[in-house]
Amino acid sequence: MVSDAELFAAAEAVRKRAHAPYSNFHVGAALLADDGKIYAGCNVENAAYPLGNCAEASAIAAMIAGGARRILKIYTTGPGRKPVTPCGGCRQRIREFAALDTPVISQGVEGVPLRTTLGALLPHSFGPEFLGR
Ligand code: THU
Repeated sequence: MVSDAELFAAAEAVRKRAHAPYSNFHVGAALLADDGKIYAGCNVENAAYPLGNCAEASAIAAMIAGGARRILKIYTTGPGRKPVTPCGGCRQRIREFAALDTPVISQGVEGVPLRTTLGALLPHSFGPEFLGR
């Protein structure tokens, strides 16, 4: 199993490449997928603000493009001390590809990591099984 430290390093490496000139809030996400590989992504903002992508969405896109299908663990990093947890929309994005007990680790790089699960972040959630998947 890939260590939390490896995922943190991957999230931090990609966070440095974020395109976030409007918020100046650089976010990185790294996930361990069911193929044993780490997929990472950063936020990609746009002058047309609503078109920006979150780091988690970028990491998920990399995973799918890479041929993997399930998230086993995900680590998100951002500026400051407060853990940068996935936004509401990204919790749902993760829900598509992860079990409710999947570890979600979030960190502000100057602070300590928060370790929780997808189910704790997104209680009573809707997911693929409602549609027979
Ligand atoms: N952001 C993420 O990339 N992931 C999150 O879960 C929280 C927010 C990005 C979106 C935007 O580019 C910037 O952080 C400020 O909201």
